[in-house]
Amino acid sequence: MSKRFDLNVQDAVRGALLHDLYHYDWRTEQPVAGRHVNVHPNQALENARKITEVSDVMADCIVNHMWPMGEGKPQSKEAWIVQASDKLCALLEITTQIAHKAAHLNLAPMMVGILLFVK
Ligand SMILES: [Fe+2]
Repeated sequence: MSKRFDLNVQDAVRGALLHDLYHYDWRTEQPVAGRHVNVHPNQALENARKITEVSDVMADCIVNHMWPMGEGKPQSKEAWIVQASDKLCALLEITTQIAHKAAHLNLAPMMVGILLFVK
């Protein structure tokens, strides 16, 4: 697939691994002014540049992975793949958490109520 679409797999993987490299718990702290969704991609890029060489494709993957909620839009095919993969992972995390919480609930009365309401 990477040959067919002429992808830079190495930079895509490296960008994907570094895309959330910020050093704080976004739920309890925000060391940089601004909303986490807009700030952390630039924090991750800054931190990535401290530990390795960052190519333009890697920077694109890191800075624009929050599209469409964030400020930037992916410019490369690799960054589009990284942002889509990030969304898929988030969706799987959320649905897994909901399924886990719902497993502890007795949903039978609610389901009966819905069936009676629909009928
Ligand atoms: Fe992120």
